[in-house]
Order: sequence, then C-alpha cells, then structure tokens
Amino acid sequence: MRSDREEALRQREYIRLTQEILKKQELEKGRKLTFHIETFGCQMNARDSEKFAGILTEIGYEKADREEDADLVLYNTCTVRENANLKVYGHLGKLYHEKKTSNPDMKIAICGCMMQEPDEVALVRQKYSFVRLVFGTHNLFKLAELLYRTETEKGMIVDVWEGTDEIVEDLPAIRKYPFKAGVNIMFGCNNFCSYCIVPYVRGRERSREPEEILEEIRGLAHDGVREVMLLGQNVNSYGKGLERPTSFAALLEEVEKIGGIERIRFMTSHPKDLSDELIAVMGRSKKICNHFHLPLQSGSDPVLKRMNRHYTKAQYLALVEKLRAAVPDISVTTDIIVGFPGETESDFEETLDVVRRVRFQSAFTFLYSKRTGTPAASFEDQVSEEVAKARFDRLLKLVQEIAAEESGKLTGKVLPVLAEEINQQDHALLTGRLTDNSVVHFPGTEKEIGSILQVRLDECKGFYYLGSRV
Ligand code: 5AD
Ligand code: SF4
Repeated sequence: MRSDREEALRQREYIRLTQEILKKQELEKGRKLTFHIETFGCQMNARDSEKFAGILTEIGYEKADREEDADLVLYNTCTVRENANLKVYGHLGKLYHEKKTSNPDMKIAICGCMMQEPDEVALVRQKYSFVRLVFGTHNLFKLAELLYRTETEKGMIVDVWEGTDEIVEDLPAIRKYPFKAGVNIMFGCNNFCSYCIVPYVRGRERSREPEEILEEIRGLAHDGVREVMLLGQNVNSYGKGLERPTSFAALLEEVEKIGGIERIRFMTSHPKDLSDELIAVMGRSKKICNHFHLPLQSGSDPVLKRMNRHYTKAQYLALVEKLRAAVPDISVTTDIIVGFPGETESDFEETLDVVRRVRFQSAFTFLYSKRTGTPAASFEDQVSEEVAKARFDRLLKLVQEIAAEESGKLTGKVLPVLAEEINQQDHALLTGRLTDNSVVHFPGTEKEIGSILQVRLDECKGFYYLGSRV
C-alpha cells in the first residue's frame, strides 16, 4: 500500500494556485466566495466531506449554510439504494433553477459513490450539462487540482478512476465537531454481498498503516478530541492486506493507550470477521464504547447464503451472546434488508425471530433495492413491492416495540455523558450521548460542550432520556 506524501505536496501546490484565482474573483465581486457541501449516505461520506471542507477553506472559500447562497455547491453522493440516487437528481433539478434565476456564476460539482457508476455519469453528461465537475471516490484528494481545471478549461470536467492503491491523507480537513472525530482506518470492501454496490464503487479493501492511524489520533487528542470513530466498510478485517499483517483488535489496543482519547467507537462490523480476540479486547477496554453495530441483513440461512454473507442465524445469535457475556451492558444495533430476492414468508419469520431474541436497541430497516451490476439484481423471484412493503411494516413495528421497551432500562442510573450541542428546542439544555449511543438532554451551558459530565437519567421519553446534573 502506497501512502502518497508526494501527491499531497502536489495537491498543496494546486491549493496555492487556486487561492490566487479565488483572490481575483473576490476582488471582482467585492466579497468572499462561499461553498456548500451536501452529503448523502454514510459516515465515510461524512468524513470525506470534512476533507473537502478543509481543502475549500484552505483555498479561501467560506462556508454557506444554504446551497442556494453558495458560489460552489458540491454534492457528495451515495448509491447504496435507488432512492439515494433519486434524491440527488431531485436536488440537482432545484439547484439548476436557483442557478438560472439568482446566481448564474454558481459552480456545481458532484462526487462520491454514485459517480463511480458509468451510467450515472452518462446521465449527468446528458441531462445535467450545467454541472462543471464530476469526480469519484478514489481521487477525492484531487479536489484542488480539479477545481483549478474548471478555471482553466471549458466544459464539464469528468475525472473518475476505476480503482486505486493510493491513500492520500496528508491534506487539510475541517472537522464538524472539535471534540469527536471520524478516522478512516481502511477503504473499500472485498465482501461482495450479493445485493451491495459498495465493492464496485469503493473498490478493493485497503488498510492504512497502523502507525499512520495512531499518529493521526495522537494529533487529534492533542487538539482536544475526546472521542474517535474508527471508520471502514468492514473494520473487523482491518490489517489483513498489510505488508506486516495485523488485526483490528491489536489496533484498538494501541488506540486505547493514547492519552486524552476517552471514547472509542467503530463502524461497520461484519459478523463473519468478528473475532474472539476483538470481543476479549472489548471486555478489557476502559475506552471502547459499549455499543456494537452488527448488521444482520436477514435471519434466514438460505437468504444469508444467497446474500453471500458467510454466517448462519445460529452463528449470529452466538456472537451476540458472546458480546453480551464479555460486555454485559452492551447495546446491539443492526441493519436489516426486507424483500431480498426469493425471500419467503418463512424466511422473513426467521428475521423476526432474531429480532425478538436479540432485542436490538435500534435497527435500520431497508427495503431491498435492486442495484444494477450486483449479482442479486439478476436473481429470480424478485419479491413484489406490495409483499416487501407489508413485511417491512411488520418488521418496523416489532423493531420499534422492542426498542421502546429496551430504551428505558437505564432510568435512575448516573452515567457519563459527552455533551455535544445546545438543545435545539430548549437552549437551557445540552444534548449528549451515553457510551451506548443513547441520547440524553440535561441542563448545561455552551462552554461545557465537549466535556464528559455525570448525569442522572431521570426519565426516558421513548428514544431519549431527560437527565439532571449530579
Ligand atoms: N438494498 C437495500 N439495502 C441495502 N443495503 C446495502 N445494499 C442494499 C440494497 N441493495 C443496506 C445494508 C447495509 C446498509 C448500509 O445498507 O443493510 O448494511
Ligand atoms: Fe456491502 Fe457487504 Fe461490503 Fe457491507 S460488507 S459494504 S454490505 S459488500
């Protein structure tokens, strides 16, 4: 794996060149130029958008809250389900109207997972020719260079790579929160779950060197970050492809040693790679949060097989038991897909059975969405929309009933809460999170944001707690 410091220097030169162009434009307009980034999809995209914000700020752009007010609008797209794509095109249509009527100089750029699909790029070329720049997930570090090209070349600039073995991380980024941060530990995915487009748009699995990750986290701790979220499509297989192979559990033990970091989270895990070593590390750890997001997808063995998930219902249940034995108060959350091709009523009942047995703290439920190019798209017996929707509603009802029953179980306890923001509705309150990821509202002031405070959980209101200070 190449970690490319030379490329980072090259990009810094483009930042400098673009700065000069922007300064001229500022003089012409008599004001600063602004950017707005609209992020769709997962934590990975959220982290990538922080990188874009860092580069754009370095160039000299200021942040605009609303896209219609911005001189540069960047859509960081997701393509995991079809409605993610539809949302982007809906937004683009509206934005074009804004551009025409109130800001003809507005520059519109699209990047992210959707742009890794040739059909989508073709559609943008054909129907959205007002877009100035299209790039993908593998070359996002080139934003400054590509913006420079939009200033020096005519027409739509399209630069999408099919894959890469480069990891260019040494560039500016602006973090959304000063006290918590996402850290990429790996990119891509090798699992090829049969429904999933991610391996095609994010490429093969590539882990960052542990020393580079640890150096980044030490720097974050130095800057006041208390909580890190280690990010990867399948963090449980971290380290396998490195020259000196290591494991996710070993990485976690090193992160644990970093002073100043008080909470460690990670996302996402695959049950097939969840090791006993990791469970043991979690059992010993003082910093790893007691929350585990473990996507189930389906509770039926034949469906899991056709999904290419490499575990059975029994193995999944055994994993949850092991996790709960090692970390007794752990909250387990999941992702479930309903209506996968060939799913029968009894397959679906198996999923409901797992939900009843595990009693997830919460679950993200998805209607199966056919993604062109994935194996499942050509499976026979696609489930009708009507049947899938009816199952989805039954699943959601059960998930919500159980989540409501589970959510009050900490009432009366005094627990540490990381204060994250002023409560939107009541400015005398702060909103924060328990280590199990539950939300708590409690009295506090703005200057306490970023601190970990002891709070008594007085009352549970469904999906959040109301607390008081002790
Ligand atoms: N249809 C529906 N849901 C999907 N997911 C991934 N691909 C699809 C698809 N084609 C869900 C999975 C995954 C989550 C991020 O999105 O549950 O865990
Ligand atoms: Fe998609 Fe499966 Fe990889 Fe997750 S593990 S990103 S669901 S292919």
